[in-house]
Amino acid sequence: MPYKFSFEVESGIIGAVEHAAIAASNYVGSGDELSADKVAISAMHEVLSGMAFRGQIVVGEGDEFEAEMLYNGENIGANGGKEYDVALDALEGTALAAKAQHNALSVIAISPKGGLFKAPDVYMDKIAIGPNYPKNIVGFDKTPQENVLAIAEHKGVHPNQVGVCVLDRPRHANLISALREVGAKVFLISDGDVAGVLFTTDPETDIDLYMGVGGAPEGVLAAAALHCVGGQFMGKFLVRNQDDILKAKSSDLAEIDKIYHTEDLVRDDVVFAACGVTHGLLLNGIRHVGGAIVTKTLSLNSERKITRIVKSLRYPK
Ligand code: FBP
Repeated sequence: MPYKFSFEVESGIIGAVEHAAIAASNYVGSGDELSADKVAISAMHEVLSGMAFRGQIVVGEGDEFEAEMLYNGENIGANGGKEYDVALDALEGTALAAKAQHNALSVIAISPKGGLFKAPDVYMDKIAIGPNYPKNIVGFDKTPQENVLAIAEHKGVHPNQVGVCVLDRPRHANLISALREVGAKVFLISDGDVAGVLFTTDPETDIDLYMGVGGAPEGVLAAAALHCVGGQFMGKFLVRNQDDILKAKSSDLAEIDKIYHTEDLVRDDVVFAACGVTHGLLLNGIRHVGGAIVTKTLSLNSERKITRIVKSLRYPK
């Protein structure tokens, strides 16, 4: 049986995140979040438009009336080829890029049509762990302390050797206190929870667990990455007001109180690519070395079970 993702599609999305990251890198440290985001979106749009596939954006840069390009529902790709769902964030961590802080990424996930959950742009409470843990070792049915103790017991270590990544937000004050109370090592990030979840896939980051509330669209992207490496993601959509209810109506969110696991958010095989815009724990950001623009991209494929770190050097023509 042929693979679900052609070489062109897999390498095409690597090219798309590389182009977006390079474009955004021109605004790293500029303080100009809007321009950084805009050029990343435009660069990613250009590459995806030329790819021989029929993509529909299910998690994009916003609704049609708020995003000029790469909006939710947009059909993208040169005609021909198979049909795919596309989830993306041309610049994940716009503030990180504008302030030249670590871990800004450009991210895409692609799955056969119907494979990706069309998530509303609301908040989501998230728990994520990397590969090689028993199913449901952590969950919303446990307290944060119990989740840390479960990981510590499985690893055979003291809770102070369990690293938990959390977005540094006032809404997480109780969570952070609870995690510190049990002795966990809390890694606070100012933005970028796709990267926060990705950290759990690499033992060298010292981060075992991701917890806390962030964007639901970012949750689908993070779940796509974990699906490729055998990690576990679970999320609870937070629908808090009339505006959120309206957003939920035009999405796949049918059961608001349900806990959505990796397989609910990513229902088929997926390819995932994330290119570093600024330096980070997992990937270097865009660098200029010896006349070349150097990129580093994490490329994951759930079907072929391949993890690649792709380094590219581009020389001016
Ligand atoms: P952007 O890509 O829009 O910059 O999002 C950054 C981010 O930190 C996400 O990674 C995270 O899910 C969300 O914002 C958190 O939202 P908030 O800043 O409202 O807490």
